[in-house]
Amino acid sequence: MASLSTLLLRGPTLLRCCPRLFAARTYAAGGDFKYIITEKKGKNNNVGLVQLNRPKALNALFQPLIEEVNQALTVFQEDPSIGAIVLTGTEKAFAAGADIKEMSDKTFQSCYSGKFLKDWDSVTQLKKPIIAAVNGYALGGGCELAMMCDIIYAGENAQFGQPEILLGTIPGAGGTQRLTRVVGKSLAMEMILTGDRISAQEAKQAGLVSKIFPVEKLVEEAVRCAEKIASNSKLVTQMAKESVNAAFETTLAEGVRLEKKLFYCTFATDDRKEGMSAFVEKRKANFKDN
Ligand code: CAA
Repeated sequence: MASLSTLLLRGPTLLRCCPRLFAARTYAAGGDFKYIITEKKGKNNNVGLVQLNRPKALNALFQPLIEEVNQALTVFQEDPSIGAIVLTGTEKAFAAGADIKEMSDKTFQSCYSGKFLKDWDSVTQLKKPIIAAVNGYALGGGCELAMMCDIIYAGENAQFGQPEILLGTIPGAGGTQRLTRVVGKSLAMEMILTGDRISAQEAKQAGLVSKIFPVEKLVEEAVRCAEKIASNSKLVTQMAKESVNAAFETTLAEGVRLEKKLFYCTFATDDRKEGMSAFVEKRKANFKDN
């Protein structure tokens, strides 16, 4: 649960931009959401879990759900006790895509002027690592949401796909870009042009997911990985994440330059000193995120 102090810290910003939201949601990250469930997990309560919870619609993504996800992620981002986040759905569906029923009446004008999907990629702005734990369908916007996360773990029943072409449209939340960068042109083209789905095994083979687990073990294993991440220096972890992400945005030379700068930056932290001292003294490092 997000601490009250964290929420109160955010109060002034929230209050300014959306006073009614603030009144209704001051304590919301603790479980007052309609379309998601949030919880703190792990032995040290240092993992934030966000579960999409719109099971009747297979977690189809629509604006109210996205707003709740963004709000929960902001709370976990600002909570100093949280070191990593897990995003999951239900056993049947991570998310079956953008809500087609909601989308069906939209026009070009309403999409363009209403900036449809504009805040659907807030996940990519997180500094803390986020793991997608995907059971069942991750289709369209659901696959895109998973790909915005830093690590994808899949349940044995997971299916990934970009079936927008079958609806007469194309991916609109990064699918053509992120999928292509991860699995390469041929498989991305095949998936996007045919709408065919790939299994968890195929996704692992293609590098889209890093590990596969039995359905009922998936979230537990994702939390275990998140706990491992959270036990390291949160500050240095953010630098590592920033550096890896640069690989998708820059040339090799620029990326290597950034990495070198961030590597040097770690030498300005107490945690780097502690990590190396602990190795030399043959003890476990006690990072203070400083
Ligand atoms: N939007 C809205 N509702 C959806 C949905 C979606 N994307 N996916 C499933 N649902 C709803 C169904 O309409 C159904 O609701 P009702 O019971 O009220 O009819 C309920 O969820 C259960 O779905 P099904 O009965 O279809 O379940 P199934 O097990 O037979 O099939 C499925 C599952 C293969 C995932 C199928 O539901 C399906 O193909 N869904 C659509 C997937 C899709 O095309 N996603 C891409 C959306 S476009 C997009 O995401 C754009 C973007 O890039 C942002």
